[in-house]
Amino acid sequence: MTQERKPRRGDVFELTLERFDERGDALGRVGEYALEIRRALPGERVRAEVNWRRRNTLGARVIERLEPSPHAVAARCAHFGQCGGCSFQSLAYPAQLAGLHELVARAFRHQGFGAELEIAPVEGARELYGYRNKMEFTFSNRRWIDLSEPPGAESSFALGLHAPGMHSKVIDVLGCPIQPAALDAILATLRSEALARALSPWDQRSHTGLLRHAVLRSSRATGEILVDLVTSSDSPELVEPYAAAVLARHPDITTFVQNVNTRHAQTAQGEREHVLHGPGFIVERLLGLSFSISANSFFQTNPAQAERLFELVREAAGTQGGELVYDLYCGTGTIALVLAAQAREVLGFELAPSSVVDARANAERNGITNVSFVEGDVLASLASRTQRPDVVVVDPPRAGLHPKLLPVLAGLAPRRIVYVSCNPVSGARDARALAGLGYRAGRVRPIDLFPHTPHVESVFALERES
Ligand SMILES: C[S@@+](CC[C@H](N)C(=O)[O-])C[C@H]1O[C@@H](n2cnc3c(N)ncnc32)[C@H](O)[C@@H]1O
Repeated sequence: MTQERKPRRGDVFELTLERFDERGDALGRVGEYALEIRRALPGERVRAEVNWRRRNTLGARVIERLEPSPHAVAARCAHFGQCGGCSFQSLAYPAQLAGLHELVARAFRHQGFGAELEIAPVEGARELYGYRNKMEFTFSNRRWIDLSEPPGAESSFALGLHAPGMHSKVIDVLGCPIQPAALDAILATLRSEALARALSPWDQRSHTGLLRHAVLRSSRATGEILVDLVTSSDSPELVEPYAAAVLARHPDITTFVQNVNTRHAQTAQGEREHVLHGPGFIVERLLGLSFSISANSFFQTNPAQAERLFELVREAAGTQGGELVYDLYCGTGTIALVLAAQAREVLGFELAPSSVVDARANAERNGITNVSFVEGDVLASLASRTQRPDVVVVDPPRAGLHPKLLPVLAGLAPRRIVYVSCNPVSGARDARALAGLGYRAGRVRPIDLFPHTPHVESVFALERES
């Protein structure tokens, strides 16, 4: 469609949406303009009204759905459309994977990589529901009210997830199909027992109320379940009988802890922790290794796919047993421990002290002695190292590698760098920068760890050019 003037707010267009972006918004075209729409699917034909314009991009909202996407399926979750968590539940899984592949391919093309760089199909998950081993729910005295509810509906208690873009309101979540079903039942009891005992939910404005968060974690391998109740004060006279009542109804909870967060910031990390039942941690197993997970430990949230991700890393690293391997941004050391069996020595580098404590404990728990961990900023830690690693694995946060790390990394001259990327945009940008420093990227292998979301992980190796 050609436009005689620039589109502006209030203009209405009919278009078919083509793909989705990294936030999960659907994208189409109006002449030379890209048009972004929330809550629409690739392949869907809509009438949409422009509500903003920025350079060559328009934002719009759907005013009429003209033709459904050929890839549309029924969403399973009762909260779909309110909760922003799994925005692609209504998109058939093969179309989700195709869309994720397009995101990765575009990111690399944007950095000038051509057909010589193969982007493998996205490895999909086998379990599309019940896969997530950790969910963090929030207590609130401001329940999000759906338009379909009658006027005056009770709204002074909720236990659930924030409505997207609405940090003051919480959707009362009755079930979350991406977590194991056993956790839905526990969530329901946490709600009903809190209401029966008139325990006060947190009020984000006045900073009052006892109950702040309920974090539920489970182990796929052992079936163990951890409940972490985050409160604003110790209040054992209220919390202990509450926990006992929940435990009495759910003997499958293997450990129950209380984290006390007296600060205003909405975080589930407390200043102190009380173990009310069980050992205070659960045990998960991946690739034959066992990991202890406590309330505040970081752990991959989709263990089945994490196992596949680590297999891809192991393949890409291709070590034989004699190598010195660095694992940068190592978290709780999972990759370092997986690689230890096929390396002479592995050194993990990590900023968060609590993750380093967990990583060392995990090494000990598995009797692995050729792995050690360095705590601190990766850049500072590497600057003081003189040994040259044979292989370096990097698994940075979404922002990618710090620009100052790139020459330091190339200066270490490993023969291979294995990049684990949770953001194709920063991963492709770093691959381009490393190409300029003498490292050639090989086949990119994307993998879906979070079905129904726009997140995608990728693994690729970069070889030093001689
Ligand atoms: C994507 S996670 C890595 C997870 C890890 N591979 C695992 O499976 O447990 C990124 C990690 O980088 C760490 N990190 C962030 N900035 C860092 C820095 N400047 N130096 C060292 N580690 C850093 C974070 O604490 C986090 O644990």
